[in-house]
Amino acid sequence: MSHGRASFGSKIGMILATAGGAVGLGNVWRFPYMTGENGGAAFILVYLCCVFVLGIPCMISEFIIGRHGSANTYRAFAKLSPRGSWKLVGLMGVLTGYLITGYYAVVSGWCLQYVYASVMGELKGNPDYVLHYFQSFSSNPIRPVFWTVAILLLAHFIIIHGIRGGIEKASKLLMPTLFILLLVIVGASLLLPNAGKGVEFLLKPDFGRVDRNVFLGALGQSFYSLSIAMGCMCTYASYYSRSVNLLNSSLQIAAIDTFVAILAGLMIFPAAFSVGVNPGSGPSLIFITLPNVFNQAFSGMPMVGWLVSLMFYTLLALAALTSLMSLHEVSTAFIYEELHISRKRGAVMVTVTTCIIGAFCSLSLGAVDFLSFGGKSLFDWFDFVTGQIFLPVGGLLTCLFLGWFVPRQIVRDEFTNWGTVSRRFFGLYLFLVRYFCPLAILAILLHQFSVI
Ligand code: TRP
Repeated sequence: MSHGRASFGSKIGMILATAGGAVGLGNVWRFPYMTGENGGAAFILVYLCCVFVLGIPCMISEFIIGRHGSANTYRAFAKLSPRGSWKLVGLMGVLTGYLITGYYAVVSGWCLQYVYASVMGELKGNPDYVLHYFQSFSSNPIRPVFWTVAILLLAHFIIIHGIRGGIEKASKLLMPTLFILLLVIVGASLLLPNAGKGVEFLLKPDFGRVDRNVFLGALGQSFYSLSIAMGCMCTYASYYSRSVNLLNSSLQIAAIDTFVAILAGLMIFPAAFSVGVNPGSGPSLIFITLPNVFNQAFSGMPMVGWLVSLMFYTLLALAALTSLMSLHEVSTAFIYEELHISRKRGAVMVTVTTCIIGAFCSLSLGAVDFLSFGGKSLFDWFDFVTGQIFLPVGGLLTCLFLGWFVPRQIVRDEFTNWGTVSRRFFGLYLFLVRYFCPLAILAILLHQFSVI
């Protein structure tokens, strides 16, 4: 253990911060539409299995590497493979975490714009107007870039206050606020007429629709939602103390993440079904479909509609901000530790460069032509390359590294806190990490390239 390195101050702070890294746009936006497209409750059941057999073992593996290394992701991998090339996997995690920061900030920035638009009542109007509003906003050269920079600066100012004074303190405030907002909106949504149809869709399994795609979709979603394979979990775990029970913590974090995802479904589906709107997919769900749903569902109670819309986008922005912080921290920790500069200067370097990446991503969505190539905008390329290639490849390599190359004694010591906590599930964990997870992730990868 290196002495004097920052660490989380309390157990609840550490759980909330890590859960904040996991809970993000993936929970509120991606999970509901994946559920909608894949048979409702049946998808949720498959998803829960994936979280248990894939997500949690991968998360524990990252925790082990991070806590053992007590350093940024690259160094943590390097410490376990001094002569090997496995440290390149750590480097890849840092690099993809870095690249995704700029792109994630763009969508996070949209949430801030929609908070602003809700306050100003700009989202009121017929469906055509709402569609046009999103299209003209997201392709504007200035506004979305402004909000991208704004949310990155927010993350920056939290990060520079360090682990306890910045990330932990902010998470202790932001996460409970997020839970309260979520519960209030779920309540408002469930009170709407015909809300029962949405609840039924979400909770009544249609096993007829469970096919291979559903499994692979659930596998991918569990990975995305738990922020695996981009150094986030590894970096946060490097600030864990030796007394943290890694198995229990991963269970708690996965439970919070799944709970938020299911509540997000309970927020969106009853409202959408109540006004007879079919929840769409992709960005259109939260930025086009939902403003319409809010307008129609609360048309008789404009103040309630205004408030629900404001609370919803605030919640989304909070969820995005805590994830953005965790992504930012991956690169910040790497830069200041590897370049031996101050944390503050490291953070400035990350913020400035990710603002530039974010600006380019944002501009590629219609403002300028030269940022699109190969039939995709730069924004879509980032989404595709990081999410669909580096994420599974990084996860696969992490499992192989931990399961087959890291000395077994180190893995056992970290898992059992040097023999002080039960090792009952150690055998199961090792089996999953050595055999099941690599094969399952390989299946996702091959499927993506339509090989299977
Ligand atoms: N888990 C976040 C979400 O649900 C997204 C995210 C943050 C992420 N960091 C990540 C996904 C690292 C994969 C890897 O929105």
